[in-house]
Amino acid sequence: MEIVVSGIRPTGDLHLGNYFGALKNFLKMQHQNNCYFFIADYHSLTTHPTPEDLHGNVKRVLVNYLAAGLDPEAATIYIQSDVPQVAELYLLLNMNAYIGELERVASFKEKIRRQPNNVNAGLLTYPTLMAADVIIHRAQKVPVGKDQEQHLEMMRTFANRFNRMYNIDYFPEPQAYNFGEELIKIPGMDGSTKMSKSDNENSCIFLGDAPELIRKKVMKAVSDQGPTTANQPKAQAVQNLFNIMKIVSPDEVYLHFNDLYNSCQIRYGDMKKQLAEDIINFTAPFREKISELSADNDYLRKVAELGAEKARESAAKTIKEVREIIGFKPF
Ligand code: TYM
Repeated sequence: MEIVVSGIRPTGDLHLGNYFGALKNFLKMQHQNNCYFFIADYHSLTTHPTPEDLHGNVKRVLVNYLAAGLDPEAATIYIQSDVPQVAELYLLLNMNAYIGELERVASFKEKIRRQPNNVNAGLLTYPTLMAADVIIHRAQKVPVGKDQEQHLEMMRTFANRFNRMYNIDYFPEPQAYNFGEELIKIPGMDGSTKMSKSDNENSCIFLGDAPELIRKKVMKAVSDQGPTTANQPKAQAVQNLFNIMKIVSPDEVYLHFNDLYNSCQIRYGDMKKQLAEDIINFTAPFREKISELSADNDYLRKVAELGAEKARESAAKTIKEVREIIGFKPF
């Protein structure tokens, strides 16, 4: 059975990008593989959340995981900071991670631009912590969206470097995974190519959003003046709406609006109304379960404890072996 690891940073409810880029794959993989799905709370410290926000957001992600159908009996669902072995492996990997290669990572450059007054060492070494998350379970597959591709490349670099350094074939090379298809990127509602909470909260549709809010966000989504010639290529913002429609609406609905666009008869107001209703339908089961689970702290605690125990067992085995390989041995 292949070992699968992936995680999501706790920033609140998950959005459609998180769902289609990652969570949907988690759900499919959990019954066929040995899966570890975690909440990356160490990672979120790079942006300095308050303790209340951090705790509340970790809970939101756990609730979203369970509401979407992750099964704590089938997969190991845990909170990253419950597994301190991850932090130890992070320290060890950092000894062989070079400043030059870390500075070249696109997400680091992006963070420098976005938070110039908080360029901390955690941001620089974000990819080593991600590598530790995955190779701590010696995983082969990592279900993620397209934005994580470069991080996966770094994981392979660090895993291979360890193997070469100690002349041992210990860590497998983790591969990004999306059920045999290309990795995907879900666009935002604001015309941007990626739905992302850190770019613009209004660009995101969250799994727990109330129907009224979904209608509001979709009706406000960026479009354009409409096509003036048949089969005119679509502007990015319009293409975004069609891309989202393609994944949440029935095929015939997508084809209907696509035909209207191509024959210059489209009315974006109608298209958005339809899209909003289809998103509301799609998210309905999540919404109900999210509110149910949020009220059940006892259950959430049990799930987190069970996951932490299973994850620590696997992580402790790796750390014991890694320490021996490195030369930390008892006399
Ligand atoms: P994060 O929390 O930004 O995103 C979580 C997952 O959702 C995917 N995703 C998207 N996919 C498609 N379209 C989008 N618009 C979109 N937005 C987000 C991401 O690709 C990701 O799979 N560093 C990671 C969390 C992490 C991790 C790991 C992931 C920490 N350690 C180890 C995998 C393995 C992050 O910040 O993802």
